[in-house]
Amino acid sequence: MARLDRPDCVENGEGAGAYNEDGIPVVDFDVLINGDSDQRLAAILHLGRACTQWGFFMVINHGIPESLQGATMDACRELFSLPTEEKSEYMEAGPMDPVRVGTGFNSTVDGAKYWREYLKMFAHPELHCPAKPAILREIATEYATRTRGLMLELTTAISKSLGLDGSRIAEALNLENCFQILVGNYYPPAGPDVGAIGMPTHSDHGLLTLLFQNGVDGLQVKHDSEWLLAKPIPGSFFVIVGDQLEIVSNGRYKAVLHHALVDGEQARMSFVSLIGPCLDAVVKPIPELARDAPQGAEFRGIRYRDYMEHQQSNKLKENAALDIVRVHHQILTREGSPNSSLINV
Ligand code: OGA
Ligand code: NI
Repeated sequence: MARLDRPDCVENGEGAGAYNEDGIPVVDFDVLINGDSDQRLAAILHLGRACTQWGFFMVINHGIPESLQGATMDACRELFSLPTEEKSEYMEAGPMDPVRVGTGFNSTVDGAKYWREYLKMFAHPELHCPAKPAILREIATEYATRTRGLMLELTTAISKSLGLDGSRIAEALNLENCFQILVGNYYPPAGPDVGAIGMPTHSDHGLLTLLFQNGVDGLQVKHDSEWLLAKPIPGSFFVIVGDQLEIVSNGRYKAVLHHALVDGEQARMSFVSLIGPCLDAVVKPIPELARDAPQGAEFRGIRYRDYMEHQQSNKLKENAALDIVRVHHQILTREGSPNSSLINV
């Protein structure tokens, strides 16, 4: 049974896991790794339900010091406050360049305003980092290593929750050479433009995303066709299921749709650490999962690099990028002949 040591968590009916007051699953990482065998099993089942029903959860007792979260935030804040000339070489970068600074302020995309400035750095297999501020490289190295370790452990537990060997997903996607990216997002206060969208609705292209913020809420996730504002337990990370996990799990785990709203008065910052497969891995449903599914494979294989390039070079449009790999199953009519209508399943 999962240990509950926080008053802001409630246990579900079977006592197998915790949820916050809004029903968002809370995964206790310490129990997942160090619990006795019953506790670990309960935590894995809880994690599996979180991925099936939400594609989103919070992780607590994860072992990454809050001071490291704070240092990461400070280093990014320093970068954002540098004069534009210091950042300009990264501003011309394209989506597959390893360091990119973008000003999403007031840019008009699809007729909407997106208030956002961001720093993106490729962090694994090799860390790329702006030269200034000088402290950034050391912090980013530490932060990337710790968060990658956490996400790889979560991936092992997720693999087990699908009834597979713990190492199955890591082997299929060559996670030893996983791709990792760090993103710092800065959303200035919107003033009278309250409710402005900081980042439009999308799913993340990778396997798992870890996110924390500076104490200003704004991340909304779609659950049961409703948008819910995600309020973190202090010190926790949000975990977001990405497109590659939807593909390898053959659709059993869904990449959650999310977006960011901008606060009227306070600047909001969020910090993302994302892992994906090795860029050269061909991602497809794990054969055992496809074999056991009523319709077989739901997705065709694609090289992660190609997927990411496609997703990043198009306008963010919900999870439309997944459509390029989705298998369209034909419905058989009662006579057994293919119906003319094709549906997405
Ligand atoms: C992202 C993202 C949301 C936020 O960077 O992919 O979804 O809260 N960010 O900033
Ligand atoms: Ni995202």
